Amino acid sequence: MDNELLFSKEYEQFYKMVEESAAFKRFCADAFGEDFSQDGFSDLKQIDRILEYIPRQKDVHILDIGCGNGKMLGYLQKKTGAFVHGFDYSESAIKTAQKLFDKNADFRQGNIGEIDYPEESFDLITSMDTMYFAPDMTAFLKQVMGWLKKGGVLFVGYQEGDVLPKTSNSGTTVFAEALKKLGIQYKVEDITKETYDLLKKKRETALLYQKALEEEGNKDWFDLLMLQTDCVTEPYDLFAEKMARYLYVIRK
Ligand SMILES: C[S@@+](CC[C@H](N)C(=O)[O-])C[C@H]1O[C@@H](n2cnc3c(N)ncnc32)[C@H](O)[C@@H]1O
Repeated sequence: MDNELLFSKEYEQFYKMVEESAAFKRFCADAFGEDFSQDGFSDLKQIDRILEYIPRQKDVHILDIGCGNGKMLGYLQKKTGAFVHGFDYSESAIKTAQKLFDKNADFRQGNIGEIDYPEESFDLITSMDTMYFAPDMTAFLKQVMGWLKKGGVLFVGYQEGDVLPKTSNSGTTVFAEALKKLGIQYKVEDITKETYDLLKKKRETALLYQKALEEEGNKDWFDLLMLQTDCVTEPYDLFAEKMARYLYVIRK
């Protein structure tokens, strides 16, 4: 099975599990501060940083690339009143998202590189732990920048060391390379230490929910949480040699 198919099957199963598992919902709320059905690494502290880039006015449109079941967008909408758009290639995630919102939302099942939106549609575009899946990062970034209104912001959470190997110690990721190639100015915040602490909390919380997850028949997902957080069983210096996490802010 090729990697892409393996990932898509895993995400399908993941979003089916989170829909049914009470223990996983409680685990997310405790580990991340709010249950957004996180498969990634975004806690409330990171998501709250997005809020400052959402204009508080009427008719604001925001897009989440790799939106999963839309719960993170639900939080941003509650805080700002924005119209929310999201796409993800997981069919079950998008079905849940479509059920979750009865107005001011547009969710589409779609693949990076295939789905398209009209130029200058959004005030803010966010993508947490999903840009890695772009088959051609530069081409996709160019397309995404086209979707942004002038003055709009692209906010990206990007991690190296798991899906992608760590490439450097200076914030020069595949994503940053694409920004440079296109001559796009950006701000980047290195949150590797914050992520180390979050992953420690994720591991400790998962251990608290081990029994509940196993009783639901979700032992495989508990094992995956252990695997994902094995990296924090070593001291921070060793972790930081292999892992890095950045928040990129790009204003058009
Ligand atoms: C690591 S998860 C992050 C989910 C969510 N943004 C978060 O931070 O919790 C990656 C998400 O990207 C979606 N995804 C992966 N590859 C994709 C692709 N080629 N096109 C669209 N969505 C994709 C997955 O279904 C999944 O929801």
